Amino acid sequence: MTRQGPGTSEDVRWALSQLDLPDAPNVLDAACGPGADLVTLAEALPRARIEGIDQLPHLVEEARAATARFTNVTVSTGDMAQISGFYDLIWCAGALYFLGVTEGLTLWRRALTTDGAVAFSEPVLSPEAPQAARDFWADYPAISDLDGITARVEAAGYTVLNHRLITGMAWAEYYAELGGRIATLRPGADTALSQVLDAALREITLWRQAPGDIAYALILARPGFGPT
Ligand SMILES: C[S@@+](CC[C@H](N)C(=O)[O-])C[C@H]1O[C@@H](n2cnc3c(N)ncnc32)[C@H](O)[C@@H]1O
Repeated sequence: MTRQGPGTSEDVRWALSQLDLPDAPNVLDAACGPGADLVTLAEALPRARIEGIDQLPHLVEEARAATARFTNVTVSTGDMAQISGFYDLIWCAGALYFLGVTEGLTLWRRALTTDGAVAFSEPVLSPEAPQAARDFWADYPAISDLDGITARVEAAGYTVLNHRLITGMAWAEYYAELGGRIATLRPGADTALSQVLDAALREITLWRQAPGDIAYALILARPGFGPT
C-alpha cells in the first residue's frame, strides 16, 4: 500500500498553506507508515529538515525507499510517544488516536518549538450521521463530532487553528488500493492471512454503506489559548 489510511497530498499542502512555517523548518511525520506524506512534505518544503518515525520496521523500510531521492529526509523506527524536538510542525495522519488526542498532544508539547504546530487527522462523526456510519466506527468508542475533537485538543492546552474534512475521494482511493491488495493476496492465503483479508473486506463493505458520512477531520492546532 502506498499509504495505510485515507489522505491525499492535497491535504498536506492545504495544512502547509495554513501555517506560517519558518523558511527551513524542522518537520516530523509521526507514524509515517510507508511514507506517502513524507514525499509530499519533501516536495513542498525543499529547505526543511524532515524526519519520519514509525513503530513498524517494514514500513520504515518502505518509507526510506519512497523518500530515497530526498537528501533532507530521514526515517527511523521508534515510538511516537517518545519523541524529543524541536519541531516546527508535527504531521500525524491517521495515528494520533493510538495515543489519544489529549494524551498525544500533551506529550508532544515539549517537542514543539515556540511557534510549533501539530496537524493530525482524526475520525469524526456528525450527530446527524446515519447508523451505517456509526457501525463503521463501532471499534472506536472515543469518536466524536468536531466540537468533541476541539474539546480534546483544548484539554491538552492547545487551540484549534483550522480544520477541514477528509472524505469522499481520499477514502475511495484508499479502499480501491486496499481492494486490489486483497485480490492479489487472496489466492493461497493461509488461515491467519485470510482472517486479515476478511476483516479488510468487511471494512470496505461497511464504508460503502455510508461513504459520504465517514470522515476524518484534519485538525491544525498549536499550544496556547486563542489564535496567535
Ligand atoms: C493508519 S496508519 C497511518 C500511516 C501513515 N500516516 C499514512 O497515512 O499512511 C497508522 C500508523 O501508526 C503507526 N503507529 C501506531 N502507534 C505508533 C507509535 N506509538 N509510534 C509510532 N508509530 C505508531 C503504525 O505502525 C501505522 O503505520
